[in-house]
Amino acid sequence: MAVTDLTRRTFLARSSVLAGGLAVGVGCIGSDDDSPASNADSSRSGTEPFDPSDWASVREQFPLSTDVAHFEAFVLASHPHPVADAIKRHRSGLETDTERYLAASEAEAEAAVRAGAAEYLGAQPTEIALTDSTTMGLGLLYAGLRVRPDQEVLTTEHDFYSTHQAWALRSARDGVTVRRVALYEDPAAATADDVVARLMAAVTTDTRVVAITWVHSGTGVKLPVSAIADALATVNAGRAPDERALLCVDGVHGLGVEDVTVADLGCDFLVAGTHKWLFGPRGTGIVWGRADAWSAVEAAIPAFEPQSFGEWLQGLPAEPMDGVRFTPGGYHSFEHRWALAEAFGFHLDIGKDRVAARTHEQATRLKSGLAEQPGVTVVTPADEDMSSGIVCFDVDGESPTDVLGRLADVGTVASVTPYREQHVRVGPSIVTTPDEVDALLTVLAG
Ligand SMILES: Cc1ncc(COP(=O)(O)O)c(C=O)c1O
Repeated sequence: MAVTDLTRRTFLARSSVLAGGLAVGVGCIGSDDDSPASNADSSRSGTEPFDPSDWASVREQFPLSTDVAHFEAFVLASHPHPVADAIKRHRSGLETDTERYLAASEAEAEAAVRAGAAEYLGAQPTEIALTDSTTMGLGLLYAGLRVRPDQEVLTTEHDFYSTHQAWALRSARDGVTVRRVALYEDPAAATADDVVARLMAAVTTDTRVVAITWVHSGTGVKLPVSAIADALATVNAGRAPDERALLCVDGVHGLGVEDVTVADLGCDFLVAGTHKWLFGPRGTGIVWGRADAWSAVEAAIPAFEPQSFGEWLQGLPAEPMDGVRFTPGGYHSFEHRWALAEAFGFHLDIGKDRVAARTHEQATRLKSGLAEQPGVTVVTPADEDMSSGIVCFDVDGESPTDVLGRLADVGTVASVTPYREQHVRVGPSIVTTPDEVDALLTVLAG
């Protein structure tokens, strides 16, 4: 499909025109006083306009309860108002005049999501596939990467269920060999040099895929993805294109936190849900693939984009794979998918650098405070280069679940890591504050 070169800002302007145009054309779609779109605006009457430079104003964009400190950005997003308003606008259009709103909106709205994602990632729109979650993206990618019987996949001991099981399913289906390597023993002491050395020592001439996770949700360790990419580039230099080791990254706990582009990361594929730290619509995600890496993948679900459909209608051979063609087809919960443009816009308006600084500032404050408390062991590295927003720790003589209970009693939401080895896990983000970090530390000290 020829994806139009919309910028985020032009889309946001255009989408209001689109809604307005439809309202006139088909009997006031979305203009009824009882419509969700109208309710979205009235629900915030009396509040100040959004000021992306002011953290209090950023927090006000979230309907999250204010009697609770929400340290759970690694789970699932609450929708900030610009995202919620876009969902309501699209839902109203779809509820009121389904077919015509779909026909009038689909191409432009989906192009706007890709344009927003591309601006955010520093990528090309056609390199981006739209999915429903990290898990869906990993499942589709790891099912579809061409790996010959004489080649193998290298992943790590630290990846989440979704990566391990996506490869286990693939292996059960076609017998592909999957090996795992440990990148550190003590997460708090993990260093970039050691991680790269351990990973590269496990890469062989048969390694076709290196499947890693940017920020480990079991320990909070952030992998030095660009250093890994550099090391793999050296190995790949002498290899034919279909022998290259492809670097695939589950990026869900780095996206929406770190101020980097896909070029900075240097990987071949980046898979992420956009409904955690990015605070995008629940049930959304992306797969970004380098333009020349998409040819290594086959789709499992037919795309619904016009060119693929046209090829089927006319009996033509398929054009080369890209992010658009990798996007699973069928109709979706479009009001959520299309509102992802506003989520990227929300972060870009605040500034990726400011989001990263705000998150790291709180995470560092939390780790330093925890390190001073007797009986507390911080699992996540103190080094900002080796950590992100996730902070994991243990308390002597107290189970992670008991610690959570103690925090919950005073209105702090965190979690226990969903791994065999369990720790308390806390996620400072743009919806939490340094004061809430201090309050958490006081509770733990008490
Ligand atoms: C590293 C990692 N990848 C993937 C997931 C799953 O993300 P999603 O809900 O977007 O599939 C999680 C946890 O939810 C995770 O910790």
